[in-house]
Amino acid sequence: MGIFAPSVATTNKHLIRWVDKMADLCQPARIHWVDGSQAEYDYLCAELVKSGTFSRLNQELWPGCFYARSAPNDVARVEGRTFICSLSKDSAGPTNNWQDPFEMRRTLKGLFQDCMRGRTMYVLPFSMGPVGSPMSQIGVQLTDSAYVVVNMRIMARIGAPVFAEIDKDLKRVVPCMHTVGAPLAPGQKDVPWPCNDVKYIVHFPETREIWSYGSGYGGNALLGKKCFALRIASNIARDEGWMAEHMLVLGVESPTHEKTYVAAAFPSACGKTNLAMMIPPKGFVGWKVWTVGDDIAWIKPGADGQLHAINPEAGFFGVAPGTSAKTNPNAMATLARNSIFTNVALTPEGGVWWEGMTDEPPAELIDWQGERWTPEIGAKTGKPAAHPNGRFTAPASQCPTIDRDWEKPEGVPISAIIFGGRRASTMPLVYQAFNWSSGVYVGATMGSETTAAAAGETGKVRRDPMAMLPFCGYHMGDYFRHWLRMQRNLAATPRIFHVNWFRKDENGKFLWPGYAENMRVLKWIVDRVHGRALARETPIGWTPHFEDINWKGLTFPQAAFDKLQEVDRTAWRKEVMGHEELFLALHDHLPPEMIYERELLICRL
Ligand code: OXD
Ligand code: MN
Repeated sequence: MGIFAPSVATTNKHLIRWVDKMADLCQPARIHWVDGSQAEYDYLCAELVKSGTFSRLNQELWPGCFYARSAPNDVARVEGRTFICSLSKDSAGPTNNWQDPFEMRRTLKGLFQDCMRGRTMYVLPFSMGPVGSPMSQIGVQLTDSAYVVVNMRIMARIGAPVFAEIDKDLKRVVPCMHTVGAPLAPGQKDVPWPCNDVKYIVHFPETREIWSYGSGYGGNALLGKKCFALRIASNIARDEGWMAEHMLVLGVESPTHEKTYVAAAFPSACGKTNLAMMIPPKGFVGWKVWTVGDDIAWIKPGADGQLHAINPEAGFFGVAPGTSAKTNPNAMATLARNSIFTNVALTPEGGVWWEGMTDEPPAELIDWQGERWTPEIGAKTGKPAAHPNGRFTAPASQCPTIDRDWEKPEGVPISAIIFGGRRASTMPLVYQAFNWSSGVYVGATMGSETTAAAAGETGKVRRDPMAMLPFCGYHMGDYFRHWLRMQRNLAATPRIFHVNWFRKDENGKFLWPGYAENMRVLKWIVDRVHGRALARETPIGWTPHFEDINWKGLTFPQAAFDKLQEVDRTAWRKEVMGHEELFLALHDHLPPEMIYERELLICRL
């Protein structure tokens, strides 16, 4: 199954030569050119079941679904092992791990030498964005992981149609090398989740190359996602005058069928998927939210002078814990079939479960590490049944709210950009920036409490500009400059907003119910975009009065709203001090607008 002769797959001599060279380096037992067909997918999934990586879920309950458990040392993106190897250290900036590209190439050559022994090397061509769209980009990933191939088939457009694009020779192809770093000696039995303690996630921005070693998980291994669509694409975008952003894209449809598209940047595991698939609450008769993407947006000025966005991905790689029929029924419908679950818990019926899926956990489960788990055991050990970064990989086309235009080659027009983070204090529910440059400042100074999406401590506030701290493939100061410069080529700039669903009271209780109720905030944003909603000026931006929000179907006292929206000048002065820290680190590349905006903000406070 699949293609075994390169001449059948592609006529591109550069590609064939590169694959030959890499095979020489990695010494795989065989080479499989991925055609992307359903038959190939079925074959690879069956092989993964045989090798113990996958188990097939109960097909009556979960048709077409598979389950995987990773090694306990391979459960999240490893930011500390992620490198930007630009020619000069200065180009990568202080927020990235930099290493000399020549040294790194030497290191990688050593690591990749013979790294695929005993395994198959898959030649996996993929298109980020619809095949043939002028906004799309193409990559070829060489990987020794069939798990990666089947996940990539959900997350991107792969196989024969992409080889056909490559054969047209119109676009530069981004080479992506990936190995789990676990060669097999002759006769050696494989493990269900091969990986290596040593991990390297390496980007060469000038030559537009990705090399990933030692991990089979998520963003470390599905190289189209964070490595290509953000870190490498942010470099391409800066050079070509467009934007590669860590943003969801959704369309709000009004009862009169007016459609307004909004892009929103939140750090990892802060509810982008939930917002992108939101169902408006009762009281919003005739309003609909449509999903274009839940994680990444590529945004380009269109011929009409407006920004247009595509979702470069074809699937959702969503955080499972917390996802339920209550919090995100559309996600639950999307992942109900043809999906892959990793590091969640297994039910005795052969289904999956994770914390938050139901109010009551099942009486008995097998946890993400393969151990017996009961609510009693969980209470005693404090161990959850699913890993907090357990994921579902699900086709976007299965989402009940997928937007009619989600694969439109020229993208959808963006009228508003929302920034947000997880903040227990200081940040009001919503405010609008005064203009584009103050909006860029709002994005540049975003902060959020850390989550389980990346290895490391959770719950600490860290500055995460535009939610791109782990994903911007060049100097963050230059990235702010690029944002500011984008405005010059636009006839109409999107309005910029900041939201915080996570503000807490003095007892640690959330002040805002969130989820579907966020529609009330979205509607105010859409109304502001169309010049229909009033607002009050505050030192930080425009905020809604109580009566500017549609409260139909929700009892929410004005006093509670005032608390939620409070701009506490003392807390804000402290907040601005926090901005200083990041700005000091970036000072030699920081655009002057950021300094002026900060000074103005201080004066207003
Ligand atoms: C993701 C992340 O997987 O941001 O989307 O970590
Ligand atoms: Mn993300």
